[in-house]
Amino acid sequence: MPTLQECHVVVTGGTGALGSAVVKALVEAGAECHVPAIETAVPAGRLPAGKVSVVPNVDLSDEASVAAYYAGLPPLHGVVNIAGGFAWAPIADSPAKVLQQQLSMNLVSCALSCREAVANFRKAGRGGHIVNISARPALNPRQGANMTAYTASKAAVAAFTVALAEELKGEDISVVALCPSTIDTPTNRADMPKADHASWVKPDSLAALIVAELGLRDPIHSGALIPVYGKA
Ligand SMILES: NC(=O)c1ccc[n+]([C@@H]2O[C@H](COP(=O)([O-])OP(=O)(O)OC[C@H]3O[C@@H](n4cnc5c(N)ncnc54)[C@H](OP(=O)(O)O)[C@@H]3O)[C@@H](O)[C@H]2O)c1
Repeated sequence: MPTLQECHVVVTGGTGALGSAVVKALVEAGAECHVPAIETAVPAGRLPAGKVSVVPNVDLSDEASVAAYYAGLPPLHGVVNIAGGFAWAPIADSPAKVLQQQLSMNLVSCALSCREAVANFRKAGRGGHIVNISARPALNPRQGANMTAYTASKAAVAAFTVALAEELKGEDISVVALCPSTIDTPTNRADMPKADHASWVKPDSLAALIVAELGLRDPIHSGALIPVYGKA
């Protein structure tokens, strides 16, 4: 396990199912975590005490809100963009509102956070790590039937990641995206009680991969879109 002692890391979506596992793993690796939460209050006990700063009322799809949040942060080692959301929406149920909501939750939140992360790294005069969360249908859109808006928004996150990595070549800033298949979360178990839960990606395993990613010394695979399919 790499050590991230003294490293400040932003985890967007850090109060969610995957996010809270990532925050826990980062704290165990020695990092100080910063979590912008859209909620007005985060229930005690959801995140480890100490070394985690949660700021409520941050809407990551709002430019001013994201800029104000990042303005209060110290020099960062890395940013993990987990905030996002899913919509099961066959095409007949996919009006502009659903498309815009999916793009806003998944692409805009990620892009605005990346923008502020790069500004933070540049201000400190050093490199940094960005890990975005896309999804398996972004790499294989044939799996995106009945979730076209979600698939398109996660494919946009993947394309954004590769393009940004190219733009930042030479600045020691790594930008990658993980593309998980179904994650073993309480919501997914409730929605799919008869599915093969053993084949799903465990949040703790994804968290360990993210800690390892943040522990890399060089941006050796910046621009990578990494499949994380568990046993599926
Ligand atoms: N679960 C899966 O099977 C799966 C598979 C592949 C990829 N993913 C992706 O992995 C990520 C995490 O999934 P998860 O299952 O852990 O989801 P989750 O539990 O719903 O967590 C998502 C988090 O993002 C936050 N969020 C959403 N929009 C936001 C905004 N505009 N501003 C600030 N925070 C915002 C949510 O806050 P609130 O809850 O307060 O809204 C929540 O804390 C998502 O990007 C998801 O698309 C998930």
